[in-house]
Amino acid sequence: MSAPNKSYDPVEVEALKPEQIERMRDEALAAFAAADSLDALQEAKVAHTGGTSPLALANREIGALPPHAKADAGKRVGQARGAVNKGLAARQTELEAERDARVLVEEAVDVTLPHDRVPAGARHPLTTLSERIEDIFVAMGYEVAEGPEAEAEWFNFDALNIGPDHPARGEADTFFVATASDSGSAAGSGGTGSGVVLRTHTSPVQIRSALDRELPVYVICPGRVYRTDELDATHTPVFHQVELLAIDEGLTMADLKGTLDHMVQSLFGAEMKTRLRPNFFPFTEPSAEMDMLCYVCRGASVGNPDRPCRTCSSEGWIELGGCGMVNPRVLTACGVDPEKYSGFAFGFGIERMLMFRHNVEDMRDMVEGDVRFTRPFGMEI
Ligand code: DAH
Repeated sequence: MSAPNKSYDPVEVEALKPEQIERMRDEALAAFAAADSLDALQEAKVAHTGGTSPLALANREIGALPPHAKADAGKRVGQARGAVNKGLAARQTELEAERDARVLVEEAVDVTLPHDRVPAGARHPLTTLSERIEDIFVAMGYEVAEGPEAEAEWFNFDALNIGPDHPARGEADTFFVATASDSGSAAGSGGTGSGVVLRTHTSPVQIRSALDRELPVYVICPGRVYRTDELDATHTPVFHQVELLAIDEGLTMADLKGTLDHMVQSLFGAEMKTRLRPNFFPFTEPSAEMDMLCYVCRGASVGNPDRPCRTCSSEGWIELGGCGMVNPRVLTACGVDPEKYSGFAFGFGIERMLMFRHNVEDMRDMVEGDVRFTRPFGMEI
């Protein structure tokens, strides 16, 4: 910076010469034009408009000029700085527009692409159907009860009035669980002597519920059960049942019938109904086989060869499972006074219901765990 000088001639001050100011302006404009990014422009801005830029330094020289020379020099520098600022703003706008256009292309998000490349699974229809059935009963005040799958023979058979000679206890049907002390030889009428079986039905949960709970008892018991069947189109050694048990004062067959009707109406539609056919189960007396109206033909196929129904084989009814009034011997085994209390129960297989509800023709599809089978059932929650 030059020192103040009384006989100062602005034209003689190098930095304030018109050609110097023009050069500074042109260099600034050239630097802005050459800046190919906003960062580069920022650097050029500091270099050419900042406090130590040539034009700012020249500006400072003006203060040292004699008054008559200030106006001229001030105008020259002011105009140059104005042009520089304008050029800077124009280049800034240009580069921002370029950046915005680039970001739109580079950072574009294709919202039509799948958001997640990990394929979603699907809930198994056996699970959703079983939960649906539970919900129907929970809404009526029932509790969901569970029991072990490796079950004591006493719960699975004896307490249910299935005596030692009952065919269901034989090896033909039942998986007996060996303990470490078993040498593998079967004891008695089948069995290993361990006293433990893989439960053959969900009925033992009736016993556990009646023993564990205060009366009255209203429970629904879904679960996995086991029988020594080969896996084929209509059999599987592992399947699912739902068991229901109600014990209260004054329960009758009419309560059982009303409960069954309500269940099939909730599952299949308001015009559905059930019918009971006499049958025998050791744990109920009287016992019945329960059928529900065929939900496809609603009975219209019966005696009507023009409208055959594949679902019910034109019988009008579909067999669902077993039911009855709890045998007083079973109540007694659970410590319930059969003079004061009565109960009703039913049990049926979920696989079977899924088969006719959704026309599943091969049991194996249900056990293989292929998501292509489960997905079409939708995401019922
Ligand atoms: N436990 C029977 C079975 O697996 C089904 C059954 C029949 C359950 C009658 C019941 C019932 O609760 O009352 O074949």
